[in-house]
Amino acid sequence: MAIRKVAVMGNPILRRKADPVTPEMIGSPKLNTLIEDMIETQKEYGGIGLAAPQVHESLALIVVGIDTAGDDESDMDDSHIPRTVLLNPKITDFSTQLEQDWEGCLSLPDLSGQVKRSVAVTIQAQDPTGKEVEIKAEGWTARVFQHEIDHLYGILYVERMSDMKTLTFNRELSRLPPERETE
Ligand code: NI
Repeated sequence: MAIRKVAVMGNPILRRKADPVTPEMIGSPKLNTLIEDMIETQKEYGGIGLAAPQVHESLALIVVGIDTAGDDESDMDDSHIPRTVLLNPKITDFSTQLEQDWEGCLSLPDLSGQVKRSVAVTIQAQDPTGKEVEIKAEGWTARVFQHEIDHLYGILYVERMSDMKTLTFNRELSRLPPERETE
């Protein structure tokens, strides 16, 4: 396993539509190594998800989740997302109900901004063995999936922000008034 370099905003790889993961790639040592490296990279950088274009591989592949085995941090209860690897994920249903909340991205280091997202989504994808899976996600998990799948279409969260005034350096987040949610 290896930690890969994360592309930051401005790198053209982040703006390309990712190529599909083909049946021939599934199960190959190259793809499995990429998946392992992405998990390792996400952990190293402290992210909650990572899309393959962020590690300079234009492939429709995302990893999300946090390994919580052995820790009991209670503040993760709301946001616990099991480790999930998805190939060719597509959102097939978005709730009309939206919610605004903070997002950050390893490709925009040290920044956060508020983004409105659907509170629930349905995703169709393949798991790393090629098996078709359907995932129904809500709340924070739904947000993370929407953010990561956007990367596969060359979209960064800043383009989803309705109020650019919320774009904030993380070191200034604590200065904000507690209620910044506008709607
Ligand atoms: Ni991101």
